[in-house]
Amino acid sequence: MSESDESEDAAVSTASASGENPPVRRLADWNAAALRDLEAGYGSPLYVLDLDRVRENHARLEAAFPDAEVMYAVKANALADVLEALLAAGAGLECASAGELERALAAAESVPPADGLDPDGSRVHYTAVNPPSADLEYAVETAAEYPGLTITAGAEDTIDRLAERGYDGRLCLRVNPGVGAGHHEKVETGATAKFGVPAERAVSVLADAAERGFDVVGVHAHVGSGVSADQLEAHREFVSRMGDLARDVVHEVGDLEFVDVGGGFGVPYDADEEPLDLEAVADATRTALGEVGARLTIEPGRYLVADAGVLLTRVNTVKAARDTLAVGTDAGMTTLLRPAMYDAAHPIRNLATDADDRETVPQTVAGPICESSDVFCENRPLPHSERGDVLAIGNAGAYGYEMANHYNSRPRPASVVAEGDEVRLSRVRETVADVTRPERTAREQNEREAGGNAQPRIERS
Ligand code: LLP
Repeated sequence: MSESDESEDAAVSTASASGENPPVRRLADWNAAALRDLEAGYGSPLYVLDLDRVRENHARLEAAFPDAEVMYAVKANALADVLEALLAAGAGLECASAGELERALAAAESVPPADGLDPDGSRVHYTAVNPPSADLEYAVETAAEYPGLTITAGAEDTIDRLAERGYDGRLCLRVNPGVGAGHHEKVETGATAKFGVPAERAVSVLADAAERGFDVVGVHAHVGSGVSADQLEAHREFVSRMGDLARDVVHEVGDLEFVDVGGGFGVPYDADEEPLDLEAVADATRTALGEVGARLTIEPGRYLVADAGVLLTRVNTVKAARDTLAVGTDAGMTTLLRPAMYDAAHPIRNLATDADDRETVPQTVAGPICESSDVFCENRPLPHSERGDVLAIGNAGAYGYEMANHYNSRPRPASVVAEGDEVRLSRVRETVADVTRPERTAREQNEREAGGNAQPRIERS
């Protein structure tokens, strides 16, 4: 039995309890006994997030980038507990939608700024990607109440739509630098048509915006997500283009408050993969950016939360398939989409007390969704699974619950947060009634309208 199995009531990780801040928390560092207890108490599947680890990740980033502003990308994990912990630690929040903006401002209200003043939105950025009108309306209304809010536009159109709504507040321009990187082609953004105004148009777009009365405060780009150490060259090239651009803007348009080089810091999913050397990334970033006379802003999401979370799932089926042991779990691609969507290889650990004594055999671990992409791993050597075992899936704190969905009419799982030795429920487990509610509500609405002799809204021709 490993050391982590001995302390039933201890924190979810022995590493945090020791007061260290290692560059990565591996799945092996989680306390198996504590996780088994959580599954027994809250059921399966269950997301577990350790807020202490989120704080540790933030502290390491701050240490590596002492002069930079850290804006946490809310999309990685939007739990209020996470937003509040990071605001309290000194981070700001980067939002991708009206929903995230609402969450961020609520968190900012409950964690007032360190200067004791009322929250004015200055710790929040809203990055508008093809923003639906309702999002823009919300952002503009919100900015009237929180004038410190920064809106980042990624198209000339978006600037026009902001102006049409009477907005001329803090504006940042997202550019497309023409360099992309990331763990999968689906998350490379820096050269993708969808994102940002081509960098070569940025000066004229910003000059025009300034003329129209906008308060031009920054330039922004995001190269992609999950950038690893071997992509440092692309990162350098990208940041150096941002430095050149910022100097041009300052020269041609006016002073900037910040140059935002986005997020993307990768984390190791493979147990053998080395963590990013943050100091080296920070050095490369500073050197490539050069002197710009504006603050450096970074927007990490994954780096802050990925290794702070695990997903617990129970084994319900163990079957000899033709070439592998097929293991069925109650979590699937609706719970954690990343393996199906990006072929992401999350680490998996069997939490059974005798797991170390079992024979290691190649296993294909798959969920309950009727689709062949619903697979967490194929032919991976793991201790022989048995029905009733609890498996922990690592690095599930980023883009885990956030991408969970209702396919196959599956309710989303429960989640808990751990802090020190305490654990509390952070999201209740959904029921099928939650999944069917929009449809039932629509039927009730139709019946009410039919009862009132209302005409059908859409007639078939
Ligand atoms: N800033 C912007 C403008 C972004 O679009 C993103 C991520 C980030 C910051 C944070 O990137 P991070 O530090 O987390 O890599 N669902 C995918 C990741 C999509 C990321 C989208 N944008 C995944 O699970 O890998």
